[in-house]
Amino acid sequence: MKRTAKKTSRKTPPKAARAPRGTAGVGTPPLSVVVLAAGQGKRMNSALPKVLQKLAGAPLLRHVLETTRELAPAALHVVYGHGGEAVRAAFDGEVLQWALQAEQKGTGHAVQQAMPAIPDDHLVLVLYGDVPLLRAATLRELVSLAGPKRLALLTVELADPTGYGRVLRDARGRVRSIVEHRDASAAQRRVREGNTGVLVAPARSLRGWLARLRSNNAQGEFYLTDVIAMAVRDGISIAPLVATEESEVLGVNDRLQLAQLEAVLRRRHADAAMLAGAQLADPARFDQRGTLELGRDVFIDVNVVFEGTVRLGDRVRIGPGCVLRDVTLGADTVVQAHSVLEQAEAGVHCSIGPFARLRPGARLADQVHIGNYVEIKNSTIATGSKANHLTYLGDASVGAGVNVGAGTISCNYDGVNKARTVIGDGVFIGSGSMLVAPVTVGEGATIGAGSTITEDAPPGQLTLARSRQVTVARWKRPAKRPR
Ligand code: UD1
Ligand code: CA
Repeated sequence: MKRTAKKTSRKTPPKAARAPRGTAGVGTPPLSVVVLAAGQGKRMNSALPKVLQKLAGAPLLRHVLETTRELAPAALHVVYGHGGEAVRAAFDGEVLQWALQAEQKGTGHAVQQAMPAIPDDHLVLVLYGDVPLLRAATLRELVSLAGPKRLALLTVELADPTGYGRVLRDARGRVRSIVEHRDASAAQRRVREGNTGVLVAPARSLRGWLARLRSNNAQGEFYLTDVIAMAVRDGISIAPLVATEESEVLGVNDRLQLAQLEAVLRRRHADAAMLAGAQLADPARFDQRGTLELGRDVFIDVNVVFEGTVRLGDRVRIGPGCVLRDVTLGADTVVQAHSVLEQAEAGVHCSIGPFARLRPGARLADQVHIGNYVEIKNSTIATGSKANHLTYLGDASVGAGVNVGAGTISCNYDGVNKARTVIGDGVFIGSGSMLVAPVTVGEGATIGAGSTITEDAPPGQLTLARSRQVTVARWKRPAKRPR
């Protein structure tokens, strides 16, 4: 499902950039990644640190880290800010190195916080926790352009570059420096090539440049962008890579941009699903917040939300308005409108919904029918069984070929303990039955409608547990007295 199309192109292929890498032509230098995530994100107007805002169901920073891990870096550093303990907590237990930037003094200062832990012979890839849509292929290409004597810079041609640092090139097209928008002259502001902020630099040189940064600029900050001119002065060549897809390098500063990026990601997911052989009723009304594995000729109607890991077999059909989280469905299974499935699985040729709810631990075998207003939790339903209307099955084992009548409830909870209901193969449960667990209904048994079953029901027989019907002769309905 990965797109293989090339997403970037080198604008000015520098001859020097083609020289053999490394000192003795030996392998690529190890890569250390530094992700800047210290920004507070004031414009989000949120209690949450910006990089924890969710895009397609996952924090912004999660997207960056996952892309980064595809590069298998030697080390992954995250620069977090004062008060950013929530950020650390959200990624607790992961293989990350945290560097605190207590005060935000600029992007150069931020990178500097991670440098003590980075060896001289590494390449340093600088990324941003709020720029979540970069593709691993783009980063790989960028890294391949860098070396011990070469700095690679990701740039982008912008229709409106307002606010961005401008990439300044000489007459021969070589990158000489970056000037921030607020420090730029009118002529420089006419340059439409913007700095994405993403770069790869040799650690030894970068360390030296960062130490020499000055904050004598419009924002009084230590700009990472100033290292470009320093590199040029030190005879380090700059290898630019121009991103061809602007959306890849977009950052998030407010919720409007967050929604824009959500739309981009939605479309990426939709495209991948369609290329994998699924038909989407409307790619703009398709939300994938996790991983989706698809068979062929799957049909997905509008407003379906996929979360976690969802696997759909060949020819599966998902009706409108369904939510599926961590679900596996076998071939030819149909989920009808407005059903909610979570941590559930079904075999082939099942029919689920409309308005069905499968809760964690619902496991349906093949050809099972689960109809409207039926809730299944922590239960197995064997082949060909049906619960078509208004039923709750919790902590139950249902055999094959069972018919569960409308309004059947497994009473699995006494307020403290959960108990199991076991229903044998070929059982028929009459409508409106209460099965008070723990209880077993033997193979082939029939339960009369409206029964409250508190004792095991023997196999092959009819069991009824309801009061007898009586008709009271000569009974008269009370009548209103005439006034
Ligand atoms: C930066 C670039 C600019 C580029 C733009 C692209 C600099 C000086 N400028 O500008 O050339 O066009 O990104 O979006 O680098 N951060 C920290 N600590 C700090 C400052 C920033 O962690 O002290 C993080 C922020 O959280 C953010 C990123 O660095 O993720 C960029 O910072 P921001 O202040 O938004 O830089 P820009 O002014 O947009
Ligand atoms: Ca920014």
